[in-house]
Amino acid sequence: MAERVLVTGGSGFIGYHLARRLVEDGAEVVVLDDFSRGRLDADFQELLEHVRLVRHDLRAPVPADLVTGPFDAVYHLAAVVGVQRTLDRPAHVLSTNVLAVLNLMDWCRANPPGVLFFSSTSEIADGAVRTGLAHLPAPESVPYVAVEPWAPRTAYSLSKITGELLLTQCAADFPVRIGRYHNVYGPRMGDSHVIPQFLRRALAGADPFAVYGPHQTRAFCYVADAVTATVALTGSGAPGALVANIGNDSEEITAEQLALRVLDVVGHHPKLELLGPPAGSPDRRLPDLTALRDLTGYEPRVPLAEGLRLTHEWYAR
Ligand SMILES: NC(=O)c1ccc[n+]([C@@H]2O[C@H](COP(=O)([O-])OP(=O)(O)OC[C@H]3O[C@@H](n4cnc5c(N)ncnc54)[C@H](O)[C@@H]3O)[C@@H](O)[C@H]2O)c1
Repeated sequence: MAERVLVTGGSGFIGYHLARRLVEDGAEVVVLDDFSRGRLDADFQELLEHVRLVRHDLRAPVPADLVTGPFDAVYHLAAVVGVQRTLDRPAHVLSTNVLAVLNLMDWCRANPPGVLFFSSTSEIADGAVRTGLAHLPAPESVPYVAVEPWAPRTAYSLSKITGELLLTQCAADFPVRIGRYHNVYGPRMGDSHVIPQFLRRALAGADPFAVYGPHQTRAFCYVADAVTATVALTGSGAPGALVANIGNDSEEITAEQLALRVLDVVGHHPKLELLGPPAGSPDRRLPDLTALRDLTGYEPRVPLAEGLRLTHEWYAR
């Protein structure tokens, strides 16, 4: 019998690609989203021919008759995401993301899934690295440090570590898998992250071309690899709670180098304008993927050059 899965946030960036992969793998997929950010665009319309869509705002309890279990797997990706949203509305980010976990948790307790996946973030490790309590590449065991507890930006990582803590408490009832995504990119990721921003400005012919924090480094993970890791981690058999970084540790790159790579892909060659980094943005981020490799045998497959080409193709369209 086909696997039955629920993907919350399934009209968003990673959720859409995950739902599509699960459909391709033969699963029966239910997507839950409130469309606060997710899009009903042509890609999603096409996916809708193969999935069931449930519109619901997870800040409210899930009505018993809206989504009926049981599910072999529940993937919880719904959240308010993005640095600008967090800076603009920290209380909204914190309350939405925590309420979504609490309401999903209640629903899962009444309808225990075979396994629950929770999408967490690399930002959990940023404070420990910044204060010298951990070094990069950062493993999952780093302490959570809120360097500026009252800074709006803290709301997002705080919402995710709270989600991790809450869901870990469910692990006696069903297995819980926590994946901490590190800089995932690809088609259909919106406009608020660095790669789509670079692509949009390059496609618009910006000159000079502004690069904020040109010496800061990141290691970007193409969304197909992130989805492979997510499915593999969720399917890894052990009971209890597991937490693993999800990313690509093979190509660390500065923002300036990234800008040049994007400009090459687009075929636009303006003068670079090198500016200071965005406030609170870490100088470096690099995942330790040892746990993910040990649990799943995962290896990132899509090199940055190929991922940028595919992402550019989509944004250019
Ligand atoms: N993209 C990354 O690199 C990255 C990095 C770290 C963590 N994550 C996490 O992965 C998950 C997916 O991220 P994404 O980049 O696809 O984000 P996204 O914003 O594209 O997708 C999130 C989805 O959740 C939905 N949503 C938001 N609030 C909701 C609510 N109250 N009820 C129901 N649905 C709601 C949105 O409409 C959207 O479709 C998020 O939990 C995010 O925190 C992503």
